[in-house]
Amino acid sequence: MAILPIRVYPDPVLRVRCEEVESFDDLLHELASDMIETMHAAPGVGLAAPQVGVEERLAVVDVSVGKDRSALKMLVNPEIVEQSGRDVDSEGCLSIPGLTEKVPRPTSIKVVARDLDGASFELEAEDFEARAVCHEIDHLNGVLFVDHLRGLRKDRARRQLKKLVQDRG
Ligand code: NI
Repeated sequence: MAILPIRVYPDPVLRVRCEEVESFDDLLHELASDMIETMHAAPGVGLAAPQVGVEERLAVVDVSVGKDRSALKMLVNPEIVEQSGRDVDSEGCLSIPGLTEKVPRPTSIKVVARDLDGASFELEAEDFEARAVCHEIDHLNGVLFVDHLRGLRKDRARRQLKKLVQDRG
């Protein structure tokens, strides 16, 4: 296992619509292990493959941050098939350090995904976990949480993003 470097805004890989995973091989298992280790080390509650520079539809979520093995979810080619409710709460992203803003998300979702061996399964998630899963699935489509902001929150976020661009250059 290895801790991978996390790509930071404005890295263009964060804006890619990622490809479906088609090979459920050792490389995929290795990538998932590395992403879990990277997420826990950060520490964070979720990580998507493009955040480590891989343009594939794989995300890991663990709202327990390593404390509860059963909380660890590995999602390959995930799709939200049902969603309901709406809540606005704070969200951040390992690829946008220093910024948290309140983002609207559904409070209850059903996701269909594959596991690392290609078997299809359903995941039902609520509240904070639903928020984390939605955030990670957004990453697979090149969408960042700041894209959901409006008004003052959007203006604040824009300033922080500008700072990240300057820090990089
Ligand atoms: Ni993120």
